[in-house]
Amino acid sequence: MVAHRPLEPLGEVRILLPQKGTEEEMENRLGIVLAAGKGVRMKSSWPKMAHLLCGKPLITYPIENLRKIGIGKIIVVIGYKKEMLLPYLKDKDIKIVLQRKLLGTGHALLSAKVHLQDFKGTVLVISGDVPLVKRETLLRLIKHHESSGSSATILVAYMEEPRGYGRILRDENNCVVGICEETDLKEKDKGIKEVNSGIYCFKGSLLLKYLKRIKKNPQKKEYYLTDIISLMVQEKEKISTICVEENEELLGINTRADLSKASRIINARVVKKLMEEGVTIVDPSNTYIEEGVKIGQDTIIFPFTVIEREVSIGKNCRIGPFCHLREKTVIEDNVDLGNFVELVRTKVDRFSKAKHLTYLGDTYVGKNVNIGAGTIVANFDGRKKNKTLIYDNAFIGSGTILISPVKVGKGAVTGAGAVVTKNKDIPPGKTAVGVPARILEKE
Ligand code: UD1
Ligand code: CA
Repeated sequence: MVAHRPLEPLGEVRILLPQKGTEEEMENRLGIVLAAGKGVRMKSSWPKMAHLLCGKPLITYPIENLRKIGIGKIIVVIGYKKEMLLPYLKDKDIKIVLQRKLLGTGHALLSAKVHLQDFKGTVLVISGDVPLVKRETLLRLIKHHESSGSSATILVAYMEEPRGYGRILRDENNCVVGICEETDLKEKDKGIKEVNSGIYCFKGSLLLKYLKRIKKNPQKKEYYLTDIISLMVQEKEKISTICVEENEELLGINTRADLSKASRIINARVVKKLMEEGVTIVDPSNTYIEEGVKIGQDTIIFPFTVIEREVSIGKNCRIGPFCHLREKTVIEDNVDLGNFVELVRTKVDRFSKAKHLTYLGDTYVGKNVNIGAGTIVANFDGRKKNKTLIYDNAFIGSGTILISPVKVGKGAVTGAGAVVTKNKDIPPGKTAVGVPARILEKE
């Protein structure tokens, strides 16, 4: 084997980068996600694609990617415990295909044959378990495939440690002649560092013809999609490759260890972007922030803080250490949230503070409010979640329990340890103390 190196210079293709393509081009592209596998190596009773990565099931990653690059026709091949994936596949642009027997990636793609029969455009095939691949990379793959007139284009990488991946076989002219799975590698090919991503483009007009010719792998008794390449080469079809910019994009999720590795990578990407936008993150490796979180300039995030998707935080806030902000939480500018503070579906307005040991769920906190240490909102009555409204300038004493639904008026005060029972609203400017809390009338 000759030295393996990328065939095309990266610089040339970068110029083509972010344009999605014209409407006509997009109509001519079909995305197929292979997601029927069991994921044996996850040691799970769930299908692999239902496992959560940074708060979202794996299956949602390829679908979001395909949408963002403007592919309107998406086919998802599912099989193992499909009922656990169906809830994520309800959108109109998704067509579901069932792979009835799990007979390998080639068989999975062939299960979508009704959709391939008359399709002459570009077919982008994505392994469902490669969530970190970037949209720019997928666009680059499609553009290269279409502009080079190739019959198949393989997304590849060069890895010092290529363990677990199929390897790209080339001839003495450096032309691709096939893909070989690791278990089938001949001794002389064991040094190959060019790996298959499991992501490809095919000419729609040729795909079915070659897919049907794939034979069962004699050892694994599966139909390998990767075998399509040598079949195409035999008939002199043009095969190209393009290389990822960063190898981490190709991390395949096969085990729990891969899942945590991917989570770290996504977190690092999110944290880096936030820092570039002017947020201080004191200890990035001990901070968990999901994609989609918005944080304003000059806010400081202290270690051991967990911020889930859809949370929005304003400017000049101090968050953490050990703060947990959950879904649909909105924090306005200049807010302080400290140790062991958990918020969910809660809005905190400007200049308010909750610095220690607090739970606020389904709560509105006005401006300039002080929430004392140990304040708990009891928002769940055993059947439903209820709302709590704490208006501007209120002062909530340490250890207060607010049983929702309840309102604390503007400038109102609760004494330490007060238990404010439901619907016993505290009028503006009044103080409530005791268990159950009563309003002090003389003030
Ligand atoms: C595959 C490639 C390998 C590549 C690697 C990159 C083959 C034979 N091998 O290996 O060359 O380096 O991906 O990550 O394709 N699936 C089905 N039905 C099946 C089997 C699998 O839908 O019957 C789906 C899985 O859900 C998964 C994807 O296909 O999303 C890849 O399958 P997996 O078993 O993980 O393949 P790898 O061994 O990782
Ligand atoms: Ca895999």
